[in-house]
Amino acid sequence: MSVPPDSSPPITLRGFRPSDVPFVATIVAEALQEHYDPSLYGSLSHDWTQGFLVAADSNDVPIGFLLGVSQVEREARILMFAVDRRFRGTGIGTLLMEAFLIRCRARSFRRVTLEVRVSNATAIRFYTRYQFSVVDLLRAYYSDGENGYQMAREPP
Ligand SMILES: CC(C)(COP(=O)(O)OP(=O)(O)OC[C@H]1O[C@@H](n2cnc3c(N)ncnc32)[C@H](O)[C@@H]1OP(=O)(O)O)[C@@H](O)C(=O)NCCC(=O)NCCS
Repeated sequence: MSVPPDSSPPITLRGFRPSDVPFVATIVAEALQEHYDPSLYGSLSHDWTQGFLVAADSNDVPIGFLLGVSQVEREARILMFAVDRRFRGTGIGTLLMEAFLIRCRARSFRRVTLEVRVSNATAIRFYTRYQFSVVDLLRAYYSDGENGYQMAREPP
């Protein structure tokens, strides 16, 4: 899907490819302060390939992504969601989330969940705008001991 309007340069939304791994890993390291084994991305995309969305620039380089999985029947879980810092606030996160929710509806999912650091006000505001609400406090959920919120939206 090509998105021409006022976004400059043009952004393309497409599925994840194995060649995206180094770019996605770089975004993750900066945005989420986490490092995962590179093989994780491919293995997580296996069960529901449509759940792993990549926003790519005009050179087809990933500048944002949303990795959703479906490990519970008729539920999706957003495992990772990040946009390259240089491109935040330009609507790329919105494009990814809206495309993801369309895919959830196409699968007749009844619920979408995610986890977020309690300190991540930007992301919490973003998710709230998409009708996600806090359903649980996850104590010491993150490896540095920070609490997390589980948020959910139903139906997607
Ligand atoms: C959360 C995140 C993915 C959102 O991505 P994004 O591309 O910045 O999202 P958008 O640009 O669509 O929207 C972000 C904000 O910019 C505003 N915005 C949207 N389109 C815009 C545009 N064309 N011009 C200016 N501002 C715009 C939105 O109103 C939104 O405002 P908000 O702060 O009130 O929510 C991004 O902030 C990020 O990568 N954060 C670090 C990683 C992270 O925290 N991930 C979530 C972990 S659970």
